[in-house]
Amino acid sequence: MADQASDRVVIFDTTLRDGEQSPGASMNLVQKLQVAHALKNLGVDIIEAGFPNASPGELEAVRAVARQVEGPVICGLARCERTDIDRAWEALQDAARNRIHVFLATSAIHREFKLRMAKEEILRRAVEGVQRARDYCDDVEFSPEDASRTEPDFLSEVVERTIEAGATTVNIPDTVGYAVPTQYAGLIAHLRRHVRNIDKVVISVHCHNDLGLAVANSLAALQEGARQVECTINGIGERAGNCSLEEVVMAIRTRSDYFQFHTEINTQRLYPTSRLVANVTGIQVQRNKAIVGQNAFAHEAGIHQHGMLMHHSTYEIMRPETVGFSKTNLVLGKHSGRHAFRNQVKEMGYHLDEAELEKVFEAFKALADRKKDIYDADIEALIEGRIQDVPALWEIVDFHISTGTGSLPTAAVRLRHIDGRTVEEAACGDGPVDALFKAIERITDINVSVRDYQVRSVTIGEDAQGEVQVEVEYAGCRHRGHAASTDIIEASARAFLHAINRIAQKVKPTTELADGMRVRS
Ligand code: KIV
Ligand code: ZN
Repeated sequence: MADQASDRVVIFDTTLRDGEQSPGASMNLVQKLQVAHALKNLGVDIIEAGFPNASPGELEAVRAVARQVEGPVICGLARCERTDIDRAWEALQDAARNRIHVFLATSAIHREFKLRMAKEEILRRAVEGVQRARDYCDDVEFSPEDASRTEPDFLSEVVERTIEAGATTVNIPDTVGYAVPTQYAGLIAHLRRHVRNIDKVVISVHCHNDLGLAVANSLAALQEGARQVECTINGIGERAGNCSLEEVVMAIRTRSDYFQFHTEINTQRLYPTSRLVANVTGIQVQRNKAIVGQNAFAHEAGIHQHGMLMHHSTYEIMRPETVGFSKTNLVLGKHSGRHAFRNQVKEMGYHLDEAELEKVFEAFKALADRKKDIYDADIEALIEGRIQDVPALWEIVDFHISTGTGSLPTAAVRLRHIDGRTVEEAACGDGPVDALFKAIERITDINVSVRDYQVRSVTIGEDAQGEVQVEVEYAGCRHRGHAASTDIIEASARAFLHAINRIAQKVKPTTELADGMRVRS
């Protein structure tokens, strides 16, 4: 992997660990595997799959990623505690390439108020943590948490001692997003000047975005010799999030005239991966988000449109295709056959088996009857809506809605259970969607509180599909569902049922289905 003399920047993705710490972003095991496979296809070097000692479920998820995702190094986080490190190794040992990431806070604020430890004790624990991790694994990363607010000389001492103890990567986190670029770059330069043997390890950066500076800080540190960036898809993470992977990667690539380093990311997978993470976490990307926002390549002002027609470089510094942006990719139409469809799906990075392909092809044909132009975003929405992470215990057979001003909105719904029986119910509500949800609740006997409901259009045009995200609460836990259709009432019903199926799977788990679920690879 890269060292400070190399011009290769290692991309360490922590979407599944720090990203998943975003409020409301938790993922189940199947979703984590989906994201891990997508990260592998994107070409990240390291996947931080989780914090194994956080819970038995987390350990299982890290273990599943370690066993099933080959290519990137699979990493697990641990505090400098014996049980954390032991659990991390338990989860990671089956990976073809693995790394244990140990951390301990070093700043005066954390020493005094959180850890109540003196400097000597911090040093001792950090060294012991790294040594224990090294007993298991040759690839060990150490992070002095809150490094950017730690006294530089003490930080240098900690880093030097953990390198002596066997750390192969030292990460310098800006845990609270307090740093500014020149100062953070100065800290990296300070460490390179004062820490013995620092040239023998990889210096990593891990920036939070509280002041909106995570990407700028990361780039500044790379210029001072750091060669690993810790980042997340869509910049999700604690509070204001982490350094955004797509932004840092595209800054390095687009300004290769300025930055003397590169990454091995397959940039065409950026947009599809961003959409997958948005759908799985329910955290949608703002329209004007750099690189992957819906408006990132839209030109509205007449003068810009005129310039673009003359030559795209007048107002465009990156081509949308480079990041896999598909809004303008007209791909298929009503007359496209199974073969063309299969090729398109494959080209978009999905690997579906024949039964899944058939299911999505049927949905595509139905969509083609309703919608003139089909873009890859439409196909993505179809795949992500039909090939779901939980078995469809209940499926919609049909439904009827009656609504209008001055009449009571009513829904009649028929669902089929996986055991073959069909059940019908009707309900009234405040509106058609409410009535529909109530009828579904009656049939499935699962009563929830709707906490969030969002509709957005998948592509441009009057006949665009609407994508619905719904979040419900059941027994104190939140569950999300999503679906797309040209009919937003239908999309709402499917999205709601997706959430209900997730709950049903939890209440009555069918291990056979949980184990047998296929994921995108
Ligand atoms: O922000 C932080 O300091 C972290 C560490 C655990 C690396 O996430
Ligand atoms: Zn962090």
